[in-house]
Amino acid sequence: MSANPPTPSIQPQRNVPALRARKGSGHPLVILTAYTTPQASMLDEYVDILLVGDSLGMVMYGEPNTLNVPLEWMCAHGKAVVRGAQQACVIVDMPFGTVQSSPYTAMDNCARVMRETGCTGVKIEGGVEMAETIGWLTSRGVPVMGHVGLMPQHVKSLGGFKKQGKDQASLDKIVADAKAVEQAGAFCVVLEAVMPEVAEAVTTAVSIPVIGIGAGHPCDGQVLVIDDILGLTERAPTFSKQYVNLNGLIRQAAKEFADEVRSGAFPGEAQGAKQEFKLKK
Ligand code: KIV
Repeated sequence: MSANPPTPSIQPQRNVPALRARKGSGHPLVILTAYTTPQASMLDEYVDILLVGDSLGMVMYGEPNTLNVPLEWMCAHGKAVVRGAQQACVIVDMPFGTVQSSPYTAMDNCARVMRETGCTGVKIEGGVEMAETIGWLTSRGVPVMGHVGLMPQHVKSLGGFKKQGKDQASLDKIVADAKAVEQAGAFCVVLEAVMPEVAEAVTTAVSIPVIGIGAGHPCDGQVLVIDDILGLTERAPTFSKQYVNLNGLIRQAAKEFADEVRSGAFPGEAQGAKQEFKLKK
């Protein structure tokens, strides 16, 4: 018998109150986007939240921005990700135009996403201007992750995907947005593409976890787009980090297959080229 029995691994609880309580705990929240069942099952044990971002319009469907993403895509991909998630919470992005017109429409669309996907909650872009809607939703049982700073759904009015909070007025506005989202009941808030001083100010100003993306260190967690860290995106943002070059590996595998088909090396003996074909039972 071993003198030191293995310490049981303690899995942090993954539900909305537990995630919210991670603020200031010294255990940063880890979030990656996911869009498919296999991605979700591979990432699940390493992250607290799988985010079905509307970035799927760009990374999976080749859209130039996130504005053309229909609710149906979010429902289909959200359902796929929930199927692959064992322990991580799944949050689904509400696409452009599905929550902006009124709290009533927002409630109907969020309820549809939660019902059809089985996700834990939704993400909504917007600050002060969306606070009434977020309050309406959270008080009726919809867990909401906020999103302030650079809001990709505002790309047309911003004139591009630009860093935010470069002057005092802009910093003050982002802090006010984060506070409004917190007061409306959001359980955490994504802060995208801001100067580190803004991240510091927002993280100090609110009592919910602030999840940075391109916001530097002073946050309570970090989120990145899965295709960016895997090296699958042609032009990943500079704030991201590529941990592996799957693009190169996929091209290499495709090239080897093509070469082997053209030379007659595939199928080979291992693929049963010389045996009789048997149907799997
Ligand atoms: O759509 C998305 O993937 C996002 C994250 C990058 C935060 O909003």
